[in-house]
Amino acid sequence: MKPETEAKIRAAIEAERARSGYPPAAAGRFAEFGQEPLPVDEYLDPKRYELELERVFRRAWLPVARSSELGEAGAFATVDVARDPLAVVRGEDGALLAFHNVCRHRAAQVLREESGVVEALVCPYHGFRYGLDGRLRSCTDPDSFPAAFDPAAVRLPPVKLDEWGGWAWITLDGDAPPLVEFLGELTDELANWDFAEAVLVARETHEVEFGWKVGVEAFLEPYHLPSIHAGSAHPLLDFRASAMDWFGPHSRMATAFRAPNAYAPDGPMGREAAELGVEGFARLNQVQRTTNMSYLVFPATVFSLLPNHFTVFRMLPEGIDRTRFVYELYAAPSASERAGEFYASLKPRYARLLEEDFENLPWIQRGVRDSATTGVPLSHHERRIRHFRAEVRKWVGGG
Ligand code: FES
Ligand SMILES: [Fe+2]
Repeated sequence: MKPETEAKIRAAIEAERARSGYPPAAAGRFAEFGQEPLPVDEYLDPKRYELELERVFRRAWLPVARSSELGEAGAFATVDVARDPLAVVRGEDGALLAFHNVCRHRAAQVLREESGVVEALVCPYHGFRYGLDGRLRSCTDPDSFPAAFDPAAVRLPPVKLDEWGGWAWITLDGDAPPLVEFLGELTDELANWDFAEAVLVARETHEVEFGWKVGVEAFLEPYHLPSIHAGSAHPLLDFRASAMDWFGPHSRMATAFRAPNAYAPDGPMGREAAELGVEGFARLNQVQRTTNMSYLVFPATVFSLLPNHFTVFRMLPEGIDRTRFVYELYAAPSASERAGEFYASLKPRYARLLEEDFENLPWIQRGVRDSATTGVPLSHHERRIRHFRAEVRKWVGGG
């Protein structure tokens, strides 16, 4: 993170602490998105939903797998993006490739597990056998096909893949800009957390009954901390001291820890880690050590970063009111023999936090269907949602 960005965030947190009321200037760069209530039909319209799949989820870069978990040749992970079954596979040459995970014969899904290791990609239906490069190697009785069917030309359609931060990212848009261009300033802002070396502590996949925007928006604002997270995050974070900004389609929120700083070596979270010999991420600056830095990587990935661990929430739409929600918890690497105890101590805390949101959000999805509800007003604390929705509208509109 650039020193001037850090200084700007610190000044913005102080300004938030001093703010009262809703002076237009307080909205900063968010002022351009206006003050109108947000329409609820955007959560419900089936045509709009199709456009979101087509123009948002098929065009953006999405992190779909951890590169380090696909270490050996033949290691794979599968993921569905906008109804396309995809697979990320480590090739013989060590490079990661992505394909449509659908057999070129009669469209059976080839790999059916979430992850694993294979020697070749063998379709279970009639046994078409593809190499790790996605090219057809053999099939039963090839001469039984008409002459126009050329086995040598058959391959699983490739998908654009790149790697950053220890993740494999894909996009279904062959004309998409390079990943680093899509991420823009994020690559610099997130660099201090050593993503690639972080230790995976927990991963859970949930099928949840709320739409992807309802889900994302719950991670864009700290206004629900005193109510939904009254006994979990609220005592640690000062929701009024949140600096927010956006860059391109992505946005950032830095929410100050309450004093005494929970993560300082004498704070409850810092002390626990220190006692167990876990030092946290070494290269963080002052602002990164004293706030919860939360980033939306457009459209639906949230990185929530703390001095010695971070969480990643990835949402993929499965219907207007259904979402596949992947939660991952990572911690700073540590040589301490007792690091495992620290990692284990994080798990129940996040299980609780997630449960609090998962209990709440299906009720929002039900609420927006109410015929008397057409728009929802937003407080200053929820200004990031305006940028997010404006961005979705822009992508949906083809802009
Ligand atoms: S569908 Fe794959 S071999 Fe027939
Ligand atoms: Fe929440």
